[in-house]
Amino acid sequence: MLMTNDIKPPGRPRVPLAPVLSRSSFAAWAGARPASVLDAGAVRQVTSGRIAIALALREMGIGAGDGVLVPAYHSMSMIPPVLACGARPLFYKIGPDAAPDLADIAARLDGSVKAIMVTSYFGFPQALDQLRAFCDSHGLQLLEDCAHCFFGQHAGKPVGSWGDYAIASSMKFFPIYEGGCLVSARHALSTPQPVSAGAGFEGKAALNALENSFAYGRLPLVRAALWLPMQLKALLWRLLKRGGAPELAPSSSDSSFEFDPRWLDKRSSLFSRLVMQHAAHARIVALRRAHYLQLEQSLAGLPGCRPLFARLPDGACPWLFPLLVDLPEPLFERLYKAGVPLTRFAETLWPGAEICANSIHFSRHVLAFPCHQELRADELAWMAATIREALAT
Ligand SMILES: Cc1ncc(COP(=O)(O)O)c(C=O)c1O
Repeated sequence: MLMTNDIKPPGRPRVPLAPVLSRSSFAAWAGARPASVLDAGAVRQVTSGRIAIALALREMGIGAGDGVLVPAYHSMSMIPPVLACGARPLFYKIGPDAAPDLADIAARLDGSVKAIMVTSYFGFPQALDQLRAFCDSHGLQLLEDCAHCFFGQHAGKPVGSWGDYAIASSMKFFPIYEGGCLVSARHALSTPQPVSAGAGFEGKAALNALENSFAYGRLPLVRAALWLPMQLKALLWRLLKRGGAPELAPSSSDSSFEFDPRWLDKRSSLFSRLVMQHAAHARIVALRRAHYLQLEQSLAGLPGCRPLFARLPDGACPWLFPLLVDLPEPLFERLYKAGVPLTRFAETLWPGAEICANSIHFSRHVLAFPCHQELRADELAWMAATIREALAT
């Protein structure tokens, strides 16, 4: 089953929903390297955020019969790793500001609960001092989900510093095909260093990142130079597929919610790690913030919508621009037809999670638009104008 919240319209103009490699990805950029989850502590680089969740739960010693509290507003991909270790996901409410509802969490502790997952949505760091103190006083472990929040700091500390363990989804922030990380600011990691998944995976991770970039008109010279090898690769792939396509990469890279434990001990590809190392981090943060603010300004005061969060805090690096709209379906129809890419995060909730009015409201009414560093000025302007027009009709 392949399910996704990402809506990439088939028609043109094609604006990339996620970052794609460009010449500027590695450009020199003034300013200090911004804080990220990698600064929080010990790191293991794996192929997705959900694999990192499974590893964090393993580090915590979570097993059969244990309860793991998960926010009612969640990605479906957060649940299979909980089930895979034999634990039960139990859902807790969030407030109108998307912060965890501590009273509801307290009411759900039933003796089986061993850990709490908390998500910083769309790149906005949660204030976690209280939840951290709550976990300490109740003997619970905290898993800080920074899947939307690779970069950023809060109260002077990098994101990921509050949890016993933190996870991130690097592929949401860098122009790479796969990538996630497990981090701990508080414990030495017992997870061994992951190993390469082999030459097929390494090649696919590099080629898919490049092909994705070419599909959006980036790197035309590299595309021309690689034309022949790419044709040969396509031919080889067609031949291989005849005998049943070999599975070279995890389904987590194809916008599915699936969890495949075969990737638990696999390292993120060399290509992804090199891109992460050499990409201009200050550029990523500065442009994401600038694009977010541009969208915020373009859509300010329009009827029937408001940004999910009132303001972008200093030190935050947005994943997407989440817009809370009164009438999501007609607007979605118009945007889809016009070719605007968007994400409906948590559009589908895990059965049993329908306990929280705020989560249900956000899951239906938030349309989230790209604000990543690789959007061109004309793409951003077109997207903002198209959304404005769609809201006005
Ligand atoms: C809040 C949240 N946590 C965890 C994940 C899992 O990340 P990945 O897709 O890298 O497995 C996602 C994925 O979208 C997410 O949105």
